[in-house]
Amino acid sequence: MPTEIETPDRAPGLELCFLFDAVEESYEITGITGRVPGWLRGSYYVNGPARFERAGRRYKHWLDGDGMVCSLRFTEQGVRFTNRFVATRKLREEEAAGAFLYRGFGTAFPGDRLRRNLMLEPPVNVSVYPFAGTLLAFGEQTLPMELDPATLETRGEFDFHGRLNEVSPFAAHPKFDPANGHLINFGIAFSAKQPMLNVYEFDATGTLVRRSRHPIEMPHSNHDFGLTAGHCVFFLSPLLMDFGRFWGEGVSVMESLRWEPERGSRILVAPRGSKAEAAFSIPAGQGYCLHLINCFEEGHMLTVDILELEAPVYAEYQPIPDLFQTVRPCHPVRYRIDLESRKLAERLPMDYDRTPDFPAIDPCLVSRAYTDFWMLGISASGAPGRKFFDQLAHGSWRQGDVRDLYQTPAGEYLGGEPVYAANPQARGEGVVIVEHLNARTEEAAFLLFDAVDVKRGPLVRLPLRHRLHPGFHASWAAMG
Ligand SMILES: [Fe+2]
Repeated sequence: MPTEIETPDRAPGLELCFLFDAVEESYEITGITGRVPGWLRGSYYVNGPARFERAGRRYKHWLDGDGMVCSLRFTEQGVRFTNRFVATRKLREEEAAGAFLYRGFGTAFPGDRLRRNLMLEPPVNVSVYPFAGTLLAFGEQTLPMELDPATLETRGEFDFHGRLNEVSPFAAHPKFDPANGHLINFGIAFSAKQPMLNVYEFDATGTLVRRSRHPIEMPHSNHDFGLTAGHCVFFLSPLLMDFGRFWGEGVSVMESLRWEPERGSRILVAPRGSKAEAAFSIPAGQGYCLHLINCFEEGHMLTVDILELEAPVYAEYQPIPDLFQTVRPCHPVRYRIDLESRKLAERLPMDYDRTPDFPAIDPCLVSRAYTDFWMLGISASGAPGRKFFDQLAHGSWRQGDVRDLYQTPAGEYLGGEPVYAANPQARGEGVVIVEHLNARTEEAAFLLFDAVDVKRGPLVRLPLRHRLHPGFHASWAAMG
C-alpha cells in the first residue's frame, strides 16, 4: 500500500492566524514598545479576508473569506485601532441565514448562489483606499464599498455618481495619480467573442473624466496594472478564465482558470489621454505577474517593474490554512520598453527570489521615477510544505537588489502590504507599517520599521488585544 508522504510544516501554528472568529473592536492601543515618531499623523488602513468558517463549512481558498478592514489612527493622543467587517450583501444575507450561501473564488458547493447568476457576490476583501473624502474598500471585479473613514461602518456601494453599476467589472487595484489625485482603474468585460479591457479615470471628486476600451485577444485573469503620466500598463499573463465552466458546470473561479504558458505573456501599453496614439503590446516571456511594483516614463523609455512568478500563485492560496506548499520562486523584474520603436530594450531581474508579494512604494512616487520598494517574502520558498510570509524585504533599483531584509523568528509571520508613510518634514525619511502575527504566543501587533533600515528590526510594536487575520493590501492617509 502506498503511504502518504507527509510534507514538512514550515509554518507552525499558521492555522491560528486564519481559523478564529474575528471580533469587531475599537480601542486606544496600550503597551506600545518603542517610540512612535512625532511626525506620524494620519490613518493606516488594511483590508483582508477574515471569515473562513460558518455552520461547519470551511472555505478552501484565501480569497474566499469575508473582507474586514482594520485601521490605525495616529494622533497626538495616541494610536487608535478599529476593525470592522465590510457589510456586503453576501455577509448580511449569510449572517441572517447562519450559513454560507454564495460561491467563493475557490469554493463552490451544491446550491451556491451568484450575483444575477453572472458573477461572484463579492466578499470585498482585497484593498482599501481613502478617496474623494471617503474610504473605499475594494474586491475583485466589482464596485467598491464606501466606509466611514473613522468608524469603518459600511455606507453602501460606491458607484461613482451613477457612472458604474453592480455588474460593471472593476478591479481591486485602483491607482492614484499624485499629480492631481485622479483615480484610474480597469475592468475586463469577458465575452466569448471579444474580451474588452475598460480603463476609467475619475477626478478627485469621483467624477468620470475619461473612459477607454481596448480589445484583448484572450480572456485574461488580470489583477493589477501600472500607471505612468501618459499610459496604463498591463502585464497580461496567459492565465485564462473559462466562463463555460464557471457558468455551465457550477465550479469555482479557481477551477475555471487555465494556465497556458505556451501562449506567452504580453505587456500591453495603452495611452491614458486622448492622444491619437494607439495601444500596443509586446511579448514578455512566459512569467506570471499578480502585482506590479511601479511604472514610469523618462523621455521615450517606459519602465515597467513587476514581481514575476514562474506560474500563477492562486493555487498556493489553498487549502486554508496550508498555504504556499509548492510555491515557486518570484523575482522583482524591471522591463524597459522603447515607446518609439515599441520594442523591449532590456529585462533586469533582481536576484531576490523568496516569492515576494504585496509590493509597496512611497505613494507620492506612483507613476514617477523611484528607487525603493518594500514587499513581504517567504524564507522557505522552494522547499516543500506549508509556509507563509516571514520576511520584510526592502529592494532598491539603485543597488539592483534586496540588501536590507528583516527575518522574523520561527513561528512568527508578517501580513498586509508593507505600507510606506513618509515624514512630511524630511524627504526620504519614512516608516513601513506591517502586521505581525505570532503563532507561538497567539499575539498580534502592528510593527513600524525604519523604511531604509528594516534589518534593524521593528522600531515600534503596537500590540493588539486579540488575534488578527493576515491582510492583503493597505494604504496610508497622512492627516491633512
Ligand atoms: Fe492585489
